[in-house]
Amino acid sequence: MRKLMRVGAASLAMAGAAWSQPTGVVSSPHNLSAGGPGAIRAASEEEVCIFCHAPHGSAPIRPLWNRAMPTEAYTIYGSRALDATLGQPTGSSKMCLSCHDGTIALGAVVSRTGEITMSGGVRTMPEGRSRLGTDLSDDHPVSFRYEPSLATKDAHLRSPNSLPSAVRLDANGELQCTTCHDAHSNSNGAFLVMQHDGTRLCVSCHAMGTTAVTGHGSCSDCHQPHTAPSGPYLLKRGTVTATCVSCHDGSVSGAADIRADLNKAHAHDTGSPVDPPDPAREHATCTSCHEPHTMGRGGATAGVLHPNFGRIGGVNASGAAVSVASSEAEVCFACHAEGSVPRPVVSRQVAQSNTRLEFAPGAASFHPVLSQGKNPDVPSLKPGWSEASMVQCSDCHASDGGGARGTHGSMQTGLLKARYETMDPSTETESAYALCYQCHDRASILEDRSFRGHRRHIVDLRTPCATCHDAHGISSAQGSELSHSRLINFATSAVGPDPATGRMEFRLLGSRSGECFLSCHGVAHSPKGY
Ligand code: HEC
Ligand code: HEC
Ligand code: HEC
Ligand code: HEC
Ligand code: HEC
Ligand code: HEC
Ligand code: HEC
Ligand code: HEC
Ligand code: HEC
Ligand code: HEC
Ligand code: HEC
Repeated sequence: MRKLMRVGAASLAMAGAAWSQPTGVVSSPHNLSAGGPGAIRAASEEEVCIFCHAPHGSAPIRPLWNRAMPTEAYTIYGSRALDATLGQPTGSSKMCLSCHDGTIALGAVVSRTGEITMSGGVRTMPEGRSRLGTDLSDDHPVSFRYEPSLATKDAHLRSPNSLPSAVRLDANGELQCTTCHDAHSNSNGAFLVMQHDGTRLCVSCHAMGTTAVTGHGSCSDCHQPHTAPSGPYLLKRGTVTATCVSCHDGSVSGAADIRADLNKAHAHDTGSPVDPPDPAREHATCTSCHEPHTMGRGGATAGVLHPNFGRIGGVNASGAAVSVASSEAEVCFACHAEGSVPRPVVSRQVAQSNTRLEFAPGAASFHPVLSQGKNPDVPSLKPGWSEASMVQCSDCHASDGGGARGTHGSMQTGLLKARYETMDPSTETESAYALCYQCHDRASILEDRSFRGHRRHIVDLRTPCATCHDAHGISSAQGSELSHSRLINFATSAVGPDPATGRMEFRLLGSRSGECFLSCHGVAHSPKGY
């Protein structure tokens, strides 16, 4: 108690009616007097409050502020998602920055003519976590009005009217350093205004939704409020991908190893910057497919969005943007439908990079991604599959060789889940067309149950499936049931027009019957039927 008298708290308390006696300072790192508990303290100065306040002769700012205010132009926080309008720091944030930006001597107080000498030759805030610098673009935004209208604009924000009592905005309704911190009390650690476990303080204001993934239980698993390596979104690593794979790299038990897949020859990740320019289409990253705050766990159901995508946006079967996708394909359509960049693996008679049109329920033929298939007669389907089944993009596009589930990376061209030879000619083996043989019985195909020429072409002539079949579908604008049933869409590397008729065409004539006009490796079909 005697010590407290000496530090001048009593005189400060008398300077204004509202002044309490924040004794918590004395035992905290904010006691910069010679007797302070921290490493950073004065050589001989014994007053505690003086580093921030003085009863007389201080700067004319409440609360008897005793320090020069920084005049630095700060780099402020910014991101594409930010709704608040930020300006330069104001109010109490500037007070904190008068030490924490590292530009003003800790001992430079207004009430003394000379600078208070700190021990160990320290003058300004030393390099380290406590020195935020003048670049605040990697720190939680401060000095903006947190009004109810902000919460109306951003569904992920709570109304400032419902803040817990410990969390306070300043008199102007602005969020400041002092909204989260109390310079006088370190009882919660880090001078925080309330107990914080990495989440509690954050969810006073943010309503991000809920996740069933226990490994993501804390905001601090992915975010840090200060000096965040990503800048925008305050992530713990430089990019979204790096943040996620800091755990998903085989080092954390239970967290699937995604890094191994990203290192494969065909990876679905551009390692893009954290806040890529709009449109983000060419910048696939983990959060293109997984909404980080609402991811769940559980099993997949074809046609229904897997819980581990979370509440992610996409484009629906009619081409309209949706804020919450309801199937996996809708997530992919965000980038692989309208405006997608063509990356053909096989050059085809009918070229199309809009996968939405290829799989549309009205398309000439299609694998059943968006709706049940329309061929009632697919004898090759293996047990577990039927003409009523639906398939997902990720049934074909996923990690090969038993890696983590999902469209992350594969050694196979086209980011395919299993081998699929497209080079004409290719020798038929179980493994050469392993992709198709996941669902279609090899023996059935090679026994010519549907197409009487399957075995002759596939085995004898070593024609790959891709020379005749398009694994996706043929849009209604580019083909009809007569001309492009059965996923027939010839590869132009092997197939050309019939020299007699000039036609390059498949015609379905009925059940398990059709004819082709074309020329293949110099063999004219003018036509050939089955
Ligand atoms: C490291 C800097 C620092 C130290 C040391 C410090 N304070 Fe403060 N104090 C502040 C800041 C910053 C504010 C303004 C807070 C705000 O606006 O919410 C403040 C505000 C106050 C207020 C006004 C509260 C109000 O509601 O207006 C009182 C009283 C006060 N301090 C007393 C003290 C006393 C007594 C000491 C010494 C035991 C002390 N402070 C030490 C930084 C400090
Ligand atoms: C007079 C200079 C000064 C002012 C003004 C000041 N601080 Fe500090 N602060 C320090 C010093 C010195 C440390 C100790 C740094 C260290 O040990 O690395 C510190 C430490 C901290 C810490 C880290 C505590 C911990 O447990 O690691 C936080 C948080 C903090 N200050 C917040 C604030 C906030 C918020 C304000 C404004 C309300 C503020 N400071 C104003 C000098 C100041
Ligand atoms: C939205 C809440 C929030 C705001 C606003 C905020 N901080 Fe923090 N700050 C935190 C949290 C939470 C921690 C503890 C981080 C941890 O333990 O990992 C922290 C930690 C710190 C630290 C300790 C070093 C570190 O990186 O952990 C300092 C110094 C600090 N804050 C200063 C400030 C200053 C100065 C401002 C205003 C420019 C400010 N803070 C604004 C939440 C906030
Ligand atoms: C006192 C309320 C409050 C607290 C506590 C708080 N925030 Fe915020 N935070 C906000 C507001 C308001 C914004 C501005 C949102 C906007 O304008 O879109 C914001 C912005 C952010 C942003 C940037 C959003 C963007 O669109 O770029 C991130 C990231 C963030 N907060 C994370 C956190 C984390 C992590 C914590 C806990 C350490 C936390 N916040 C604590 C109110 C708070
Ligand atoms: C701090 C470590 C950590 C970080 C960072 C992390 N994860 Fe995880 N994640 C885990 C753990 C552990 C699990 C295991 C499941 C559980 O805990 O419920 C998991 C599970 C998951 C799952 C669910 C898998 C399932 O069971 O279906 C997905 C999806 C996922 N993480 C994606 C991500 C993405 C995307 C990011 C980056 C935005 C990320 N994770 C960042 C630790 C982490
Ligand atoms: C598994 C990792 C992970 C966890 C856990 C996590 N976040 Fe995020 N958060 C991210 C990533 C990654 C982004 C960037 C989103 C993007 O790329 O679009 C983000 C973005 C944000 C944003 C800005 C975008 C927006 O929607 O407003 C806020 C605010 C935010 N997070 C707050 C939080 C809070 C609060 C918590 C804890 C309740 C939390 N986050 C937990 C990974 C995570
Ligand atoms: C944010 C945009 C985006 C989303 C969403 C997206 N992709 Fe992609 N996709 C790309 C980009 C960009 C590439 C090019 C490869 C790269 O650099 O990442 C690509 C490449 C691919 C390739 C490889 C093509 C090749 O020949 O190499 C496949 C297959 C693919 N995506 C399938 C999917 C599937 C399936 C989904 C949904 C689960 C999906 N994509 C969601 C942007 C996206
Ligand atoms: C994930 C399971 C799955 C995989 C992998 C798969 N298919 Fe299918 N396929 C089906 C289902 C289910 C149908 C039935 C659709 C119907 O009844 O119209 C089907 C139907 C077909 C049809 C007939 C379509 C029609 O409209 O007549 C052809 C041709 C076909 N598949 C070829 C292939 C080829 C070639 C591959 C390898 C690239 C392949 N499939 C891979 C599940 C699969
Ligand atoms: C039945 C298996 C199968 C399904 C289901 C499937 N793909 Fe493919 N996809 C392939 C094969 C095989 C190739 C490469 C060979 C080819 O073009 O025939 C390919 C190529 C691609 C390519 C690169 C070529 C291009 O068209 O730009 C992209 C991107 C792609 N698929 C995205 C998707 C998306 C998105 C979905 C779901 C909406 C999907 N795929 C569903 C088998 C499939
Ligand atoms: C193109 C879309 C896409 C991108 C980009 C993407 N994922 Fe996935 N992810 C998926 C799909 C699809 C699944 C499988 C869902 C299912 O199980 O049906 C999946 C599953 C997962 C799982 C669960 C795997 C398992 O076997 O349990 C984790 C963990 C995961 N993703 C993390 C990540 C991380 C980390 C990133 C960024 C490096 C990422 N994903 C990027 C589409 C994507
Ligand atoms: C020379 C062209 C050609 C090649 C090569 C070819 N197919 Fe076919 N396929 C057809 C035709 C034509 C039909 C239509 C049969 C009918 O009338 O129903 C068909 C039908 C199918 C069907 C649907 C009926 C059924 O049998 O279940 C599947 C599945 C199929 N093919 C898979 C494959 C696979 C897998 C490969 C490669 C291993 C392959 N095809 C190679 C021309 C070809």
